[in-house]
Amino acid sequence: MSEKSFVTHATEETIALGERLGRLLQPGDVLVLTGDLGAGKTQLTKGIAAGMGITDDVTSPTFNILMVYEGERMPLYHFDLYRLDDPDQLEDIGFYDALEGDGPCAIEWGEQFSNEIGPERLDVYLTRLDDRAAVGEEPPREVRLVPHGARAEELVAGL
Ligand SMILES: Nc1ncnc2c1ncn2[C@@H]1O[C@H](COP(=O)(O)OP(=O)(O)OP(=O)(O)O)[C@@H](O)[C@H]1O
Ligand SMILES: [Mg+2]
Repeated sequence: MSEKSFVTHATEETIALGERLGRLLQPGDVLVLTGDLGAGKTQLTKGIAAGMGITDDVTSPTFNILMVYEGERMPLYHFDLYRLDDPDQLEDIGFYDALEGDGPCAIEWGEQFSNEIGPERLDVYLTRLDDRAAVGEEPPREVRLVPHGARAEELVAGL
């Protein structure tokens, strides 16, 4: 398994990394974004959307659970499962339809549903590197990409 790590020193760098990833995405690709509140999951998704040619403003879909953005070639399904605790709710929010859908999925707080998501996915771990920041400054972020399955390996290799 060939994981890759990046350190971003500003929001724009996280967005730029997301853009590179977004340009590679295809229908059926599943990204599981894991990290604390404010780690940068939504900022990374903003970049992914930009890389797919999406011009809409991407925000955290916490209250909507799912946002669908129309890209140049295909839609992006952006989930935030923070408020969900029961896998039975996934069916109602169209989760499985999106996984099989005509565009990739980016799933914030998806780790708790890894059984439902399935084995083929790209896990993305975002971490605030607090010990690397001066007092009062935003810390850099580590973005660690851990592929599961041949397709996710290909995505990571392409970065
Ligand atoms: N290097 C960086 N990468 C990403 N975000 C950064 C970075 N430095 C500072 N930030 C700031 O940190 C915040 C990250 O917020 P974001 O909404 O992306 O987090 P999140 O992981 O989606 O949180 P939540 O779990 O609440 O949805 C933004 O305000 C962003 O500007
Ligand atoms: Mg978010």
